[in-house]
Amino acid sequence: MQDQKYEYGMIGLGTMGCNLVLNMNDHGFSVAGFDKDKSKLESFIKQTDKRSIQGFNNVNDFIASLQKPRVVMLLVPAGLIVDEVIAELKPLLEEGDLILDCGNSHFIDTALRMEQLAKDKLNFMGIGISGGETGARHGPSIMPGGLKENYKRVASMLEAVSAKVNNEPCVTLLGPGPSGHYVKMVHNGIEYGLMQLIAEAYHLLKIVGQLDNDELHEVFSKWNDGKLSSYLIGITADIFIQEDNLTGTRLIDMILDNAGQKGTGAWTSEEAMALQIPVPVIDTAVSMRDLSANEEDRILTGKILKGPKSGLKLPEHMELVNELEHALYFAFLTTYGQGMALLHAASEKYKYDIKPEEVIKIWRGGCIIRASMLENIRSCFKRNPELKNIILDEKLAQELVKGQNEIREVVKKSVEYGIPMPAFMASLAYYDTCRSKWLPANLIQAQRDYFGAHTYKRNDREGVFHTQWLVNQE
Ligand code: 6PG
Repeated sequence: MQDQKYEYGMIGLGTMGCNLVLNMNDHGFSVAGFDKDKSKLESFIKQTDKRSIQGFNNVNDFIASLQKPRVVMLLVPAGLIVDEVIAELKPLLEEGDLILDCGNSHFIDTALRMEQLAKDKLNFMGIGISGGETGARHGPSIMPGGLKENYKRVASMLEAVSAKVNNEPCVTLLGPGPSGHYVKMVHNGIEYGLMQLIAEAYHLLKIVGQLDNDELHEVFSKWNDGKLSSYLIGITADIFIQEDNLTGTRLIDMILDNAGQKGTGAWTSEEAMALQIPVPVIDTAVSMRDLSANEEDRILTGKILKGPKSGLKLPEHMELVNELEHALYFAFLTTYGQGMALLHAASEKYKYDIKPEEVIKIWRGGCIIRASMLENIRSCFKRNPELKNIILDEKLAQELVKGQNEIREVVKKSVEYGIPMPAFMASLAYYDTCRSKWLPANLIQAQRDYFGAHTYKRNDREGVFHTQWLVNQE
């Protein structure tokens, strides 16, 4: 039995786990790491030379190396693996030990695990971590949920390793239960929406604007210096100038146009449908990933389904770039807005008591959806912490009103040239729907009553009505 006892244990020494341990160690925390995979363990051990970190591949030794009451962090893929790891840990842990699930687990799984482990007097928290490899190493945005007393035990470590904006740590206890994983799910839903919008802008600029990769790099770099300044716009600018080691051309042109997904975007859409809070930009982003995955079918149907010629060079491509900048800003705002509206509803339904301003505050640094426009969104919640939807904030609404002309132009061009831009369309349609005093839903009610006697309400008197529609009487 060894003497050194470590403050934290980390299970899962893949890229994220390994980098987070190194980050923790930079801030003076001692950590024991565990991974069954020998190659991951070896690579971890190589990187941990002369640090107060140790790697284990025997779970008993690993647990025995931790200070009591223990804090064991998990950074393993979401799903069954989390349950398997917990099952292996359970007999080795003692009352009062705390497990932190730092992966992208579904919030319902997190709630169940909390409940089950509480029966064994084991503590459990679901902690969303965003920022990828670099974030984990140098400061991620951290989204914890669970009991206050558990958070207190790890708050100083989480604050130390998190990203900082104006010296403020990008971490705070978001609420009870699985609220941390809920917020991370919505973060990812927004991530899907923003990425789809950027991809659509790229499509229009490349095919209709005929911009080459260097020009695309220029455009995105310029946007990143303006009101679109954000992590995703910044990395997009970089991507266009990355060389391909295998062919010497640009890597972007060698990557198969088939988008993968691990499910968090679809979970956001499913949740939004269940809570009846529309998030159409996010829904569209999920569908577009699904459509992109079917490239064989796309090639086949492309031979039959003809559209307008889309290879036209627009002489006014500077105008297109300008329109797209404003349109993207508009669409980004609506996407953040849809995600925040879902959080508002979820917080009420599940009694998470999430403070939207705090969420935005911790998304300003470290995470994938960090962006300068989050300051404007944060101001909305400072003005009204109970705001149901940021489009109801007068100041922010003015920004949308100003930006609508450009997004309309962009959508027109997408239609004219046959470029699919459904996320922009969804954003604009959301805006137009939300501002509509009247919607044609009266017709839907009439149809429902016609074929199913589902009844309807009237706009001139109280009550619920049903009509024997003309054709029914024949
Ligand atoms: C983050 C990312 C991270 C991961 C996504 C990718 O916040 O750091 O969201 O969690 O990159 O889960 O998700 P997809 O594989 O579904 O695109």
